[in-house]
Amino acid sequence: MSRREQVTDQYVERFRTALLRWYDDEGRTLPWRIRPEDRAGTNLRPDPYRIWLSEIMLQQTTVAHATPYWKRFCKTFPTVCDLARAPSDQVMGLWAGLGYYARARNLHKCAQKVCDELSGVFPTDEATLLTLPGIGPYTAAAIAAICAGEATNVVDGNVERVISRLFTVQTPLPKGRKILRNLAGTLVRPERAGDYPQALMDLGATVCRPKNSDCKACPVNALCKAKAEGEPTRYPLKIRKTPIPTRYGHIYVSVRGDKVWLTRRAETGLLGGTLGFPTSDWADVLPDTATADWKAAPAIRHTFSHFHLELSVWIGEEPRGEGDWHPHATTAQMPSLMQKAWRAAKTIL
Ligand code: ADE
Repeated sequence: MSRREQVTDQYVERFRTALLRWYDDEGRTLPWRIRPEDRAGTNLRPDPYRIWLSEIMLQQTTVAHATPYWKRFCKTFPTVCDLARAPSDQVMGLWAGLGYYARARNLHKCAQKVCDELSGVFPTDEATLLTLPGIGPYTAAAIAAICAGEATNVVDGNVERVISRLFTVQTPLPKGRKILRNLAGTLVRPERAGDYPQALMDLGATVCRPKNSDCKACPVNALCKAKAEGEPTRYPLKIRKTPIPTRYGHIYVSVRGDKVWLTRRAETGLLGGTLGFPTSDWADVLPDTATADWKAAPAIRHTFSHFHLELSVWIGEEPRGEGDWHPHATTAQMPSLMQKAWRAAKTIL
């Protein structure tokens, strides 16, 4: 089944209902946010100027770090024209500590454009927002959704992570970005268009975290393919910038008639608790071990998450270490490294 086919209306409904219910109960209270319960029965909408300030600040730092800056900006410059008319030094001074100073300059330029050309009315439609300095696709989509209820596709790093896990997207970043954006778009609906992206981003920031994801607390864990696979934090896959090391070792395939000698590996560590052919330790240089009575088969290579492994494959008849004789068929249930060794051995058996 392709990913597109999975995203049926029924699936979208299930996903959104669970996520928005979670947001109603567990979503964050943030100083610039109007929570669903505060909006209930009113026409209350957040001030786009303040939302814009928060979104620009949050692009480079956490909520905890950005919050005092956001408060100082709002107090010093209550309206977009107050910010526009302020001297550059004052704006830069208040920004100091947030980093990326080109952003502060664009922020100032954007305020001036809104004040001078749009009568000081901060726009809330995605298309107009995109024409302003320093406002890219993410910020435009976020402001339009949060302030005007436009059903835009809001995609930041949090959303990319959640979507990559939900669908186990196999194309690594940065190339996978387009696929993630398209998939995220299939979940967008007009209902609660402002709450939805905030819920998705909150989920990414507080539950579906980069390193230690809290899948037990996740409202959509039953739909998550990465959770089902067992190692959700593998996603999003990324193109590696630094090369990974290679380790070396020996692997021993003992065969007697229709039996092979297999060992159960220690519970901890890689391949913990699995059955396979005995190996030497894996080291940065090929360990020196006795192989006089063994015949060499083609070496095998395998890549784990943080290193490549190259194993010299040896064939013999003597058992090696703790283990048991098993029928050849057992090899079909072994980890892929072990299956590679078995295939290599069979080429000369
Ligand atoms: N991170 C950046 N903007 C956010 C928002 N509007 N809601 C939740 N997390 C965010």
